[in-house]
Amino acid sequence: MRPRVLMVMGSESDLPVMQEAENIFKEFGIPYEMTIASAHRTPERVITLAIEAEKRGIDVIIGAAGAAAHLAGVLASHTILPVIGVPISSSPLLGFDSLLSTVQMPPGVPVATMAVGKAGAKNAAILAAQIIGRQDKNIVKKLLAYRQRMAAEVNKKAEALKDL
Ligand code: RP5
Repeated sequence: MRPRVLMVMGSESDLPVMQEAENIFKEFGIPYEMTIASAHRTPERVITLAIEAEKRGIDVIIGAAGAAAHLAGVLASHTILPVIGVPISSSPLLGFDSLLSTVQMPPGVPVATMAVGKAGAKNAAILAAQIIGRQDKNIVKKLLAYRQRMAAEVNKKAEALKDL
């Protein structure tokens, strides 16, 4: 099945964070492709991935990187597909650097920037599902069920707290 989402990480060291996104795609049955390419170390490969994504039938790109995190912005500058950025906490500045590098895109080329780290990785996948869901009612059903499960868990914990 053709991948609908292309996930690009700046380094293999970002994988434990991006596995949160993988889990969501597996749960929702959304085919994805995951790869490593760096805006600094392999800049040509990043550009090729971005340029070829649309012809390959990709709907959404996720770019995850830490430190001077230009990856999502570089991907976005070579495609008009929606690009979601995940700042990774991998440097002595603990992700504040990657957050600013990812979120502070000058006007004209947006990157939908998520929270730093695992929460951001998870939300990147959910947002990608929401984008794809505009054309796929089956994914909308799964998103609604996911929200209901989350609410049910919170309510269960609130009930358990009453009994303490
Ligand atoms: C970034 O530099 C990567 O996305 C990673 O978060 C960080 C450190 O990379 P490694 O030195 O672990 O390969 O480009």
